[in-house]
Amino acid sequence: MTPILSAHQLVFAYAGESPALNDLSLTISSGRKLAILGPNGAGKSTLFLHLNGSLRPQRGTVLLAGQTADYSRRGLNHWRSRVALVLQDPDDQIFATSVAEDVSFGPLNQGLSPATVGSRVENALKAMGIADLAMRSPHLLSGGQKKRVAIAGAVAMEPEVLLLDEPTAGLDREGADQLIAVLQQLGQRGMTLVFSTHDIELAQSLADDVALFRDGSVLAQGRAEVMLSDPDLLARAGLRPSVLVEVWRAAQARGLCPTGGEMPRNADALLALLNPSGTSNDGSNPLPAAQA
Ligand SMILES: Nc1ncnc2c1ncn2[C@@H]1O[C@H](COP(=O)(O)OP(=O)(O)O)[C@@H](O)[C@H]1O
Ligand SMILES: [Mg+2]
Repeated sequence: MTPILSAHQLVFAYAGESPALNDLSLTISSGRKLAILGPNGAGKSTLFLHLNGSLRPQRGTVLLAGQTADYSRRGLNHWRSRVALVLQDPDDQIFATSVAEDVSFGPLNQGLSPATVGSRVENALKAMGIADLAMRSPHLLSGGQKKRVAIAGAVAMEPEVLLLDEPTAGLDREGADQLIAVLQQLGQRGMTLVFSTHDIELAQSLADDVALFRDGSVLAQGRAEVMLSDPDLLARAGLRPSVLVEVWRAAQARGLCPTGGEMPRNADALLALLNPSGTSNDGSNPLPAAQA
């Protein structure tokens, strides 16, 4: 199937700097959740600005549904109605004096009727769990609430692809967990999600696919289970496996759970591998002890 969005050998340098993107190629498949994983400065934000046409590559091409990107005003409007970008800092994205007004900005720009705009805004606020904030001033909200407003603004455009730059940065644990749940729901509704992060646990809990970034290019792209459980590959991207994967590997090495198989996505999945019969471990039925 033709990827909904792809980047081919992009090169881009900010004025007077060495290239931020260096022969970068990436494929975004429709209906999947892709994590762009890499350390700070790897070029993640710069890539996102190329994926909605905000920056134009100095070399290479971006394809939207197989077609060479069109940077005319009309082309960009069409592109951005299909591919919405949520910036890392919601203060860079939120301008209006009420939440509802802010979220209506995108659909109004798409030239939709007032009735359609109204229902788009209502649905987006509901999807993000912030319908009760509609009349509030966005600037007085918490970081997590602002982030939801910014995402609602993108969701209201009903894009095919939602690009989220570091979606959980600056959120506390509870805020991050709530956001992950909302993103899961958007994914279940068929929206293609691409998010950047340096948080391997976020990629592990949310991504179907992972692209590993380093120094402005993609080291490797593939299924999350494969990419996130390969310590050598992760090390090349300046990352290390999550604690969960390390415990899983150690348990395999000690014969406490089967070798091979799918990477557990969370603690419950790992516990199920360690204790497949599902018997509760109340002390009467201890896990087998490791060989001394
Ligand atoms: N507006 C800018 N002007 C000049 N250099 C920039 C600008 N934005 C980013 N860079 C540089 O480009 C490189 C990639 O940055 P960025 O895309 O922000 O990476 P990431 O999002 O992975 O942290 C870094 O070396 C960064 O310092
Ligand atoms: Mg960034």
